[in-house]
Amino acid sequence: MLRIFVIVIIANAAMAQVPFLGTCPNLEAMQNFELERYLGKWYEVERYFAWFEFGGKCVTANYSLNENASVKILNKQISSLTGVATSIEGIARLIGRSDDPKLTVTFPSLPLPFDAPYWVLDTDYISYAVVWSCTNLGVLNVRNVWILTREPKPSVAVVEKAYQIIDKNNISRAYFIRTDQKNCPVTN
Ligand SMILES: *[C@@H]1O[C@H](CO)[C@@H](O)[C@H](O)[C@H]1NC(C)=O
Ligand SMILES: *[C@@H]1O[C@H](CO)[C@@H](O)[C@H](O)[C@H]1NC(C)=O
Ligand SMILES: *[C@@H]1O[C@H](CO)[C@@H](O)[C@H](O)[C@H]1NC(C)=O
Repeated sequence: MLRIFVIVIIANAAMAQVPFLGTCPNLEAMQNFELERYLGKWYEVERYFAWFEFGGKCVTANYSLNENASVKILNKQISSLTGVATSIEGIARLIGRSDDPKLTVTFPSLPLPFDAPYWVLDTDYISYAVVWSCTNLGVLNVRNVWILTREPKPSVAVVEKAYQIIDKNNISRAYFIRTDQKNCPVTN
């Protein structure tokens, strides 16, 4: 079983997800999503553990609109081992109605680009967002969850709001790792 997990993790290393048995849980994304208000810069505060990414700090995402109404993603991070800053560009598209926060995301420059789901489970647009991604893979499903905040060092109250959404959806907190947002360059 462990071997299967390892292969799945490698196959999905690009999206860095945690494998679970069975199919994706049936979660509900938020209602009345407003993409315009969701755009702009977010700081990654916590995410599910991804071993290949170990050592990434100062992780940020900047979402903006492309001319064709797709969302341009610019993710930046700094290697805590080497201090080298890297960035990657992606494209996200709404898959349904414009007020339905279900998107697919792809990073064309990756060796194996594929569409990953990106659901905004909840956000208040001004302080926190909880993002969920789950893909069925046969007898397994692979998941990732992100807590994003507008501030690099959010207050406990803001992170608590995100945890409430996570708990309400029965998402395990056991796989979260905190993203180091200390001593980051202002440009990240
Ligand atoms: C985010 O990206 C947009 C479009 O490229 C750019 O205009 C904006 O300045 C960026 N915001 C930040 C905070 O980097
Ligand atoms: C939308 O525009 C972006 C940025 O120019 C481009 O990369 C992408 O392929 C376009 N998508 C479609 C569906 O035309
Ligand atoms: C979470 O788990 C509880 C108890 O098992 C259940 O009643 C509830 O419906 C679940 N909620 C979701 C969103 O799955």
